[in-house]
Amino acid sequence: MTKLPTTNLGRTGIPVTRLGYGAAHRKPINNAQRKQILTSVITSGINFVDTAGCYGRDKNNSESLIGRYISNVQNDYTIATKCGCQDTANRWTEKNIFTDVYTSLERMKIQQIPILQLHGPSVKKCEDNQVVATLQKLQSEGLVKWIGISTSLPDLETFFNWDVFDVFQLPYSLLNRKHHTWITKLSEKGHGIIVNNGIAQGEPHIGTGETSIWEKFNQAHLNDLLAVNEDPTQFALRFAFTHPYIDTNIVGTTNVNHLEKNIQTILLGKLEQDIYKEANQRLDNLETNPTKT
Ligand SMILES: NC(=O)c1ccc[n+]([C@@H]2O[C@H](COP(=O)([O-])OP(=O)(O)OC[C@H]3O[C@@H](n4cnc5c(N)ncnc54)[C@H](OP(=O)(O)O)[C@@H]3O)[C@@H](O)[C@H]2O)c1
Repeated sequence: MTKLPTTNLGRTGIPVTRLGYGAAHRKPINNAQRKQILTSVITSGINFVDTAGCYGRDKNNSESLIGRYISNVQNDYTIATKCGCQDTANRWTEKNIFTDVYTSLERMKIQQIPILQLHGPSVKKCEDNQVVATLQKLQSEGLVKWIGISTSLPDLETFFNWDVFDVFQLPYSLLNRKHHTWITKLSEKGHGIIVNNGIAQGEPHIGTGETSIWEKFNQAHLNDLLAVNEDPTQFALRFAFTHPYIDTNIVGTTNVNHLEKNIQTILLGKLEQDIYKEANQRLDNLETNPTKT
């Protein structure tokens, strides 16, 4: 098994591989491929998997696949899932969150959810439904160990001030750096940092990245900064890895070759500091509100 770099996920103290896995499965795959990719993730040495009750449908729901294919694997790994995903008006009530949690536990065949994240609620929804009290009740009943939130600015600032969440999940990549300094601020306060969209979904036509978003890569002339034989997706992965305060980048893939390539890319290490600085500078030059947000 490959030895991937790890760090502790903030105050949870959970050792997580800096390359995690996002189990949303953005491309259609069949059952054999689902089994192959999930088992490959775990046997490859990645020890952190992010999922949600709303990823995938029916028997192919992501949590059910985890229960079916990897819950009985012996390796140590941590699952983070999310509640409040259904598109219903009352998704943040105590009753609904408890139902989500019981469903997740049953699907994943586990007794306790290691990390439960709120799936993008507004501050108002949290306040109106006393969601934090619900999370604390889940913890006191032993159904959930650590609590977190998947969020973004501007709500992020209020959630940070509440100082109740152990982990934060934020979107961040070289093509979307608006949480750059927030990641540092959160981490310095002891919060674990999980990043999604961390390779901007991979280059268009290879991954699922959008051409309009990846245009920025060319506009900033980042191709000039690539190492020999390095492609833009690899550069994006190493760029996020170079941010000193991201604990784990939960890169999604349905393709075992991409999984292997991502692992090999992380093993190449961080970008050289002069390359990282130059890339940030070139991206800053394109933006009105760059890394200082
Ligand atoms: N609100 C939330 O909480 C939220 C929102 C978004 C995402 N997430 C979580 O974060 C995870 C990752 O986010 P994401 O899917 O938005 O973004 P991402 O990890 O940046 O990109 C995933 C995409 O990148 C492609 N890819 C992976 N490795 C590649 C490679 N080596 N070369 C080219 N393309 C490659 C994949 O396509 P292939 O399948 O072809 O490899 C996939 O479509 C999700 O799975 C989910 O767990 C959470």
